[in-house]
Amino acid sequence: MSDRYVAALRRSMSDPDGFWLDAASALEWDKAPEKGWVQGQGWFADGLLNTCHNAVDRHVANGRGDDVAVIYDSPVTDQIRKFTFAQLQDEVARVAGMLAGQGVTAGDRVIIYMPMIPETLFAMLGCARIGAIHSVVFGGFAAPELAKRIDDATPRLLLTASCGIEGHRVVEYKPLVDHALDLASHKVDRVILFQRPQAPAAMTAGRDLDWATLRAVAEPVGCVPVKATDPLYILYTSGTTGTPKGVVRENGGHAVALSWSMANIYGLKPGDIFWAASDVGWVVGHSYIVYGPLIAGCTTVLFEGKPVGTPDAGTFWRTIVRHQVDVFFTAPTAIRAIRKEDPEGKFIADIGLGKMRALFLAGERADPDTIHWAETQLQMPVIDHWWQTELGWPALATCLGLGDTRRLAGSAGFPVPGYAFHVFDESGNDVETGQSGNVVIKLPLAPGAYATLWNNAAGYAKSFQTFPGYYETGDAGFIDAEGFVHIMGRTDDIINVAGHRLSTGQMEQIVAAHPAIAECAVIGVDDVLKGMVPMAFAVPKAGVEMSDELAKEIIWTVREELGPVAALKHAHLVDALPKTRSGKILRATLRRLANGEHVETPPTIENPAVLVAIRALFSFETSE
Ligand code: COA
Ligand code: AMP
Repeated sequence: MSDRYVAALRRSMSDPDGFWLDAASALEWDKAPEKGWVQGQGWFADGLLNTCHNAVDRHVANGRGDDVAVIYDSPVTDQIRKFTFAQLQDEVARVAGMLAGQGVTAGDRVIIYMPMIPETLFAMLGCARIGAIHSVVFGGFAAPELAKRIDDATPRLLLTASCGIEGHRVVEYKPLVDHALDLASHKVDRVILFQRPQAPAAMTAGRDLDWATLRAVAEPVGCVPVKATDPLYILYTSGTTGTPKGVVRENGGHAVALSWSMANIYGLKPGDIFWAASDVGWVVGHSYIVYGPLIAGCTTVLFEGKPVGTPDAGTFWRTIVRHQVDVFFTAPTAIRAIRKEDPEGKFIADIGLGKMRALFLAGERADPDTIHWAETQLQMPVIDHWWQTELGWPALATCLGLGDTRRLAGSAGFPVPGYAFHVFDESGNDVETGQSGNVVIKLPLAPGAYATLWNNAAGYAKSFQTFPGYYETGDAGFIDAEGFVHIMGRTDDIINVAGHRLSTGQMEQIVAAHPAIAECAVIGVDDVLKGMVPMAFAVPKAGVEMSDELAKEIIWTVREELGPVAALKHAHLVDALPKTRSGKILRATLRRLANGEHVETPPTIENPAVLVAIRALFSFETSE
């Protein structure tokens, strides 16, 4: 372990306020905070700042106006556009003016349902500029999910584009937005729509406004100072129920944590080029496509494409060389997709890697095989690191910027300074080294972690109730004798499908609501490409025929209700679900059977014959 890592970790534990106030001094404040953590108030509660100023304007003021801030690389539309910090400032100030022109002021919510285009960044930063709270909704969610977020966030305005581009598929957003607004109880007066030539949308008279027209006449506006504890954004993520959790991120702690992480975790300095191949609809996109790199004065790459098929498995390496990316971040599933198409790494050999010096992976567990393949092909550190939407930035990592290089395939690394990890048994006692249990983090959480859940203080409190004084991550794992932390999976019904966080409980609610279905279970099954995929077991109501059509309809319903991102492709119709005598569905047993494992009949089972029937389903079928 590097001395710098050890020193930083120790100081973050013994003097957290001093540690984080030092980190805060890297930013420009309208009023610098004098206090770090204050119970009941949060981090830097006496500070005033503007996140957009720190991400954009201050770099221009410091003479970096001509440096490139954003590179938009879109293989799906065959475009590359670059924006300097000065151009970004102008764009963002105008978009902020466009929002202000519609009456949006500090504290108002703005929903952003937009694809991976520069205007989405301008919109996010434009909200931050005037103190409005953005809520970006991932484009892979269907209209009912968008409607839930509209009703919870009660936005003044909705920003959208006419379409997104998914590989070779053009996804029209306008019908989805119209449907969501019909479903929502909250009325949104105005929709501002950015027209894309791939699928221009018809405007709804009296409600929809054209982005380009408004942007052309908008007066640029400046940055509004906000309290460090004022919300910057709400990002909805899957919880254990059908209702998404609105993670609330505050301005101050977020800016400080991201600024610190860029230098000390990723090892980047101003002017370096960072690329996170994710989507702005996820937390990775918020933190490491938009805010982190820009706050740190780095160039960020906004990539509208897929790891494979746009046009081929060499697209990542080509983009890295073309833009001279220093550090790259993606999900393990993307590396698995590339490996599947290019197992020998021919594209890497042909194209090269420019000056790239490290690959970071997160979003799901990085299996050792994938890490080994990537390290062999790339010949550089491949670093798995772990975090969650709730935390907003990595909590386990190998801190490259602190000179640390120790890695172990299968582990997500060591606690990042600011985080004290424990693995607890069900009674809240530390388990023995190497034993699995509940992964928890001692309070207070580091700056940047969520301050609450929007409209759901009780839901927020739940994560702190099971183990008083600790945050329950919902993940299971262990700490080995060398201190490496291994995250092995969830303790609840959340699954990670291709790096996307989904709730099987939510899918169960959708399937169970189907008029032909009596009850159901949805589980996550291992998948060589996506890590996990959902699989449904549904019991039709008495008298309903078990047909392929019904199974297909279940799959279709989940896609319509939750969105294509749900990726439910397997639905099995069964006579009954295996249950304990007390009526609990044996989901773990189902999961193991579907994974092709040998499963003894559990002694607690009420209906062993059901298990025999389900076992038969998988005697010829393993997970796909
Ligand atoms: N808008 C609309 N639809 C979307 C979407 C979006 N923004 N994102 C995904 N979808 C759709 C996909 O087109 C796909 O639809 P299909 O069932 O019609 O094929 C479905 O949702 C599932 O998407 P996904 O699970 O991403 O699978 P895929 O087959 O399209 O791609 C990978 C597979 C591995 C290439 C892809 O999952 C990938 O790049 N993953 C990386 C994920 C990532 O970056 N996660 C962020 C956390 S770091
Ligand atoms: P999200 O909130 O979408 O970032 O998903 C967070 C969840 O993804 C975590 O609670 C983990 O279950 C999983 N996850 C993220 N990164 C990793 C990782 N590096 N290793 C194992 N699991 C991970």
